[in-house]
This record gives sequence, C-alpha cells and structure tokens, in this order.
Amino acid sequence: METMKRTFTCGALRGTDAGKTAVLNGWVHRKRDHGGISFINLRDRWGVTQVIVDPAAAPELAALAAELRNEFCIAVEGTVRLRPPDMVNPEMATGEIELAASRILLLNRSEALPFQIDEKTGANEDLRLRYRYLDLRSKAMQERIRLRHETAFAVREWMTGQGFYEIETPTFIKSTPEGARDYLVPSRLYAGKFYALPQSPQLYKQILMASCFDKYFQIARCYRDEDARGDRQPEFTQIDIEMSFVGRDDVLAMTEGLMGHVFKKTLGVELPARFTRITYDEAMERYGTDKPDLRFGMELRDFGPYVEKGSFSAFRDAAAAGGAVKALVVKGGASFSRKQIEELEAAAKIYRAKGLAWMKAGNGPVLEGGAAKFFTDAQAEICSGLGAEAGDLILMIADSKRDAANTALGAVRSKIGRDLGFTEYKPSSPRFEFVWIVDFPMFEWNEEENRWEAAHHLFTWPQEKYHDVLESDPGSVKGDLYDLVLNGYELASGSIRIHDPEMQKRIFKIAGFNAEEAEKRFGFLTEAFKYGAPPHGGIAPGLDRLVMLMSGESSIKEVIAFPKNSFAVSPMDDSPSEVNPKQLEELHISIVKAKEDAQSGAGR
Ligand code: AMO
Ligand code: AMP
Repeated sequence: METMKRTFTCGALRGTDAGKTAVLNGWVHRKRDHGGISFINLRDRWGVTQVIVDPAAAPELAALAAELRNEFCIAVEGTVRLRPPDMVNPEMATGEIELAASRILLLNRSEALPFQIDEKTGANEDLRLRYRYLDLRSKAMQERIRLRHETAFAVREWMTGQGFYEIETPTFIKSTPEGARDYLVPSRLYAGKFYALPQSPQLYKQILMASCFDKYFQIARCYRDEDARGDRQPEFTQIDIEMSFVGRDDVLAMTEGLMGHVFKKTLGVELPARFTRITYDEAMERYGTDKPDLRFGMELRDFGPYVEKGSFSAFRDAAAAGGAVKALVVKGGASFSRKQIEELEAAAKIYRAKGLAWMKAGNGPVLEGGAAKFFTDAQAEICSGLGAEAGDLILMIADSKRDAANTALGAVRSKIGRDLGFTEYKPSSPRFEFVWIVDFPMFEWNEEENRWEAAHHLFTWPQEKYHDVLESDPGSVKGDLYDLVLNGYELASGSIRIHDPEMQKRIFKIAGFNAEEAEKRFGFLTEAFKYGAPPHGGIAPGLDRLVMLMSGESSIKEVIAFPKNSFAVSPMDDSPSEVNPKQLEELHISIVKAKEDAQSGAGR
C-alpha cells in the first residue's frame, strides 16, 4: 500500500516553518469550499492544521478533495505558508500557517457519522458509548485521557521517588470482603469452585507487608458488583498503597505529598502542604455528611438552645426524645421563593426528614414567615446566636435521631451549594478543597441482619482506648480510619490495620464470623500474620474519581476510555453477552433462570 509518512503532526507547524515541505497524516475534521478553493481542517491527536487545496495550482487534486468527507483518514503533502494577516487565527496553535497541498493520499473512508465529533450535539450517553471510538476522538475526551495518563505517570514517579515498589497482585483471588458483591470466575478444572475478582487488593497488600516489602503501591483494577452511579463503575482503578511501621499521620502525610505532586505536575496547581482534618462526629455535626464539600461554608448550627424559648411542638418533641434541632443560615436566602423552599423540603424528605421549617430574617432584627410565629419572644436572640442578618433565610430540621436531623439538613446544604453555583467548576480557576475525615466508627449496626458489621473493612485497627469495650459496646468504638474527601467526594479511604492475630479474631467475632467461618475465608491472612507481621497501614485513592474531579466532571465515565453504562452494560461490544453452550458445559454451569428475567434485570 502506498504510504506518505508524516513529517509533522497536525499540532506542530508554526510561522517559522513557512517554506518547508511537510507531510501530515490525520482525519478530515471540517471541510469548507470557498471560491473554488477547499479548506480542510486536518486533525490528529496533537492538533488541527488548515490544509488548502487550490484547483488552479493542482488541478488533479480537485477531484480527490471533492470526495473528502468528515473523518476520512488522509495523508497530505504540501508547502507550509504564512496565512494572509487577516486570516491568522490566534485561537489555533497552528493558526499562523496553512499547508498548500500538492498531493493527497486517501488512507481510508468513513461512513456517515452517528454524531459529529466535537460538536455538543447532546448525543445521548448510550450512543456515545456505542461508538466510543468516535467519541474518544473529541478534543474533550482526548484531553481527559491525556490527563489520566499524566496523573498515573505522576503517581508512579512520586511513589518510586519515595521508595515504593509497584507490585502486581492477582485478579483471580479468593473473595475479599469490601462490602460489595463479588464478580465470580468459574473454574474449569474444579467443578463448582470459583475465583473472585478482587474488590480491592486489600489482603494481598497486607500480606506483602508481612513479606517485608515495607512500601507497596499499585495502580490496581478493582471489581465490584454494585449499582453504577456517577462516581461508581463495576470495574474501576485504585492507587492502592500500603506501608509498614507507620501510624496514621505517616499515611496522611504521604498522601498529602502524593496529591501535591500530582496536582503540581499535571495541572500546575499548588495544594496546601497539609489538608484540614476533622473528625467524623464533627463532620456530621457541621456538614451533615462524612463527605463535606468545603468549597463553601454554610455550616449546620445547633438550634437546641432556642427550642424551649418557642412553642413549636415538632421541635419540642424531637428535643424531648433526645434528638436534635439543627439549623442552616442561608445568606441572602430571604429571596428564595416558596417553590424553592418546597424543593429543598423535598430534598430533605429523601433523607427521611419529617419536614423543613423556615423563617426569614428581616430588619430589626425580626423573624418573618414560616415558623417565625412560634418564636416571637426570642427573635433577636436567635438572629444573633445563629448570625442571621436581614435578608437571610433560616432552615431547620428536628428529629428524634440526631444523625437523621444532621443528614437531612446536610442534603439541603448540598443542594443549596449546587443551586447557588458554589460548586460550579471554573476551568480558569478550579478549586480543590481537600479535607481528611478521621476517627470513623469501627462498626455499623446492620438492621436487616441484626448484627454489627465493619464500617470500612474487617482489617482496621480499633483505636487503643476502646480495646476494653470492643465486645461490650461496639457502637462506641472508633477505628484508626481515615477518608480523604475532595470537593464533596470520597476520594480515598484507608486505615491502620490489625497485625495481631488475636485482635483479628476478636473483630471477626464481633462482626458475626464464627471461628470456623473466619478460618475458612481469611485463614491464610491470619496464618501469615503468625510469623512476625509488622504493624502497617495504608490507603487507596480512586484514580477515576481523582481524574474526574481534576477535570471538573461529575461522572467517572468521562475519564475512562471504555466504561460501562448505568446498567453495567458496554453498548460498544454488547457485554455481558451469552456464551457458547460448550463453554458453559466445560465450566460445569447450567443456566436455570429464564432468559427474559435475566435481560430485564440488566435494565435493557
Ligand atoms: P474503598 O472501598 O473505600 O477502600 O475504596 C477506596 C476508593 O476507591 C474508589 N472507589 C470507586 N471508584 C469507582 N467506582 C467504584 N465502584 C468505587 N468503589 C471505590 C473511591 C474510594 O475512596 N481496600 C480499601 C482501601 C484501604 O483500606 O487501603 C478500599 O478498597 O475513590
Ligand atoms: P405540619 O405541622 O406537619 O403541617 O408542618 C408545618 C411545617 O413544619 C412544615 O413547613 C413542615 O415542613 C415543618 N415541619 C414539620 N415537622 C418538622 C420537623 N420535624 N422538622 C422541621 N420542620 C418540620
């Protein structure tokens, strides 16, 4: 096949190249015909260059140029020349020049496109994923995939510089409990036995510590069979990290260093050397969530001191039942319409709030509207206590459960933050607000199964001061656990681990694993720890979420080359799909579920 090897990319030529002969290879991005001359914007990964085909200069090219359509793949040879001054395009890196074509080679044609590359046609997501190879040609996708590469590179560079080894761990493993359902791989050789795909390399990285590797990391693929969401995919990537002979603060400092390097290197953004730390309890009280977005303040306040000064029975009842009344002051929120407040109430009710009370601060200060009538005697006190000024809106939620009041009002805070544009991503001045959440509870009560379960995972070290009450009061126990939150998303989770087999047994037992079951599932870990396992801890930032937040997106699909859709389906290759009966037979599997059921289950 005839070739014309490129001598420049489509992003390379500048005014100083005028007069040179150049060969470009790329795709027809746009074509316009003007006074008999064809203007072709030729695109590759590196940029766009304007190619001119003048039929007068090269009549034999005219016929070929006329045939070209968008996304035809071509090679062009020509002379670089300066554009006339009024045609210079300062928006384009190559805007000073154009390539006057002397020869064009058609490398491949393209069929009519399902959507135009780079045009925000609102092509729906499934169409984009069906033709992902075309979608990936867009400038925005190209830039995000580049950022992802640069981020992964910066991670490897920094970790290596700090003395970490990247060590691969298997993807066919014994099930690791991270709280989601496993993807299973049936064994052909052992009928009825399965490997699990790792939900994370958790157990393996801990065993690597027992194997004297000291500082491990891995850009690791993880698999979890859970419902997809904006920030969740069934397969995703973690920057998985583990260290020996460390305490919590060492892991936090290492992570701060890593983030600092990555942001500086890829975005040129200088992060603070240390990130703010708040406890889980404090986060719940002040923001109503363990993933607070600190790009805005608007903290939750305690309305408790004013309850008895008023006559609102919903508030008094909640307080009497040992619950809480929490308030939020929205600066300038007095202009909110009735409808806006109703929408906020609906958001609160999703989190099971019984209602959302409101009042507005006027001049005086006086309280007006809504619940103000219940607090006629304490208006000035409430305004000064909560810091509400004329023009502000006060929103309140009472609940007999303190956490419920916090969570629902936290959801209202988040919605207001979005509605008022506090969380809007500004490409020219993006904001990255990191915060550590520390001292998480070790255990959560599972209402359905009537048992305690690990809030993070079973291998977390309970803080020393709770060791005496582990069994008697699991709900009070705090773990040596931490999350890194960025702009309201959980970016990373980690903990100091249990390295003492006796402590590990106690935790298994509290979480309802009898000795036999624990032995069967995690015996290999406890056994490894019998041979002088070192104290250790680690963390795992999600790479997809990191790149998503760096690029101001709200879905990790935007930073994954080939993601699944919201129904865990890949519209491009149509997986999951049926397999050949012979394959099933070899795997000792027979399908009993009706086909229709299985398909509707996939939501298609
Ligand atoms: P965890 O389960 O909290 O911890 O996960 C760590 C980080 O991984 C990312 N993440 C996800 N990203 C996309 N899609 C998903 N379905 C998904 N699930 C998790 C998040 C999250 O913060 N082994 C522990 C870590 C440790 O203790 O060291 C673990 O996996 O960014
Ligand atoms: P109701 O008496 O239920 O009609 O409620 C009157 C107002 O009080 C409505 O605006 C409700 O949203 C609000 N409200 C009711 N219960 C609560 C509660 N527990 N916390 C906050 N507001 C409430």
